[in-house]
Amino acid sequence: DSSFTKLMKPMKEFTRGKIPKISVVGAGQVGTAICAMLLLRKLTKYLVVLDINYELAKAEAFDFQHGSVFLGDPRVVPCGDGSHSKDSDVVIITAGARPSGKDRSRLDAMHKTVEILKEAVPKLVDLSPKATFLIVSNPADVMTYAVQRIGKLPRHRCFTTGCHLESARFRNLIAARLRVPPSQVQGFVIGEHGSSAVPVWSAVSVGGIRLNDVVKDLACGKDPENWAEISELVTTVGSAVGKVKGYTNWAIALTCADIVEAMCSGRGKIASVGTDMKGFNGIKDNIVLSLPCLVTAGGISHVFEMPLTDVEKKKLHASAEILLEAQCSLKF
Ligand code: LAC
Repeated sequence: DSSFTKLMKPMKEFTRGKIPKISVVGAGQVGTAICAMLLLRKLTKYLVVLDINYELAKAEAFDFQHGSVFLGDPRVVPCGDGSHSKDSDVVIITAGARPSGKDRSRLDAMHKTVEILKEAVPKLVDLSPKATFLIVSNPADVMTYAVQRIGKLPRHRCFTTGCHLESARFRNLIAARLRVPPSQVQGFVIGEHGSSAVPVWSAVSVGGIRLNDVVKDLACGKDPENWAEISELVTTVGSAVGKVKGYTNWAIALTCADIVEAMCSGRGKIASVGTDMKGFNGIKDNIVLSLPCLVTAGGISHVFEMPLTDVEKKKLHASAEILLEAQCSLKF
């Protein structure tokens, strides 16, 4: 209280109206890029920046606060132990171990990340039992499976941005070849967020024209015009960026903000995101992978079973097998 606030007389007991609250867990390059996109796109007025390194969480949150006059006055709150994340509407998890050592072993990093999640997730779920959990930590599909298990979360309310990023890359690559705006290319990549991702050529369309109707047999593996080059690039452009920067952050942050917008604007969106897809498109086990989903306020409301060609089906199931093996290697 100050002499000034004494002049601000309460008229009645005052409670704040409910505004969507989002917690971002992990204040690294990906977490902070997500924070920046959420704030710039004004998707939240109440953002919690959470990191076990509280000094880092504070520094990042303050850096955003210092610019809050340019962002529509959001609250940006640092947090080290989770407590401030209470009653979040969306919890975005980016925390994890970086691949380290000479071989930068993905598997090693995966096991370390699961250990981190085992610590963090039960508390986050207790504090925000109704939140939608969006998993970005890599390997994203396997980590989503882990968070669903650790947090006992239903699959519609705990999912990964998954192949929504690959789909954006796919559309961008096709657009560059056709010289049309990337947003005007319709297309989906499904399966793993990673090297076994499956571009669904049979469903690509531009201006109402199905590419497959024009470039005959494309989806069946015949490819005289070498569109396969794009299939290859979809899964390699990210690591090419990562090799130079040490990480990728802008595209994943934009992908994440797009999904948050679908949930928080109330408009919804069909996007290739990843959750336990048992029962859809012939997936028989509890495997987390991406298929086109309707993402709405409460999470995933519908899964769209794409009519795939035989070649695409085979690739999807091969991707599922790879993911199942990785899931089975997890220790709980
Ligand atoms: C990428 C990281 C986010 O694909 O997995 O850029």
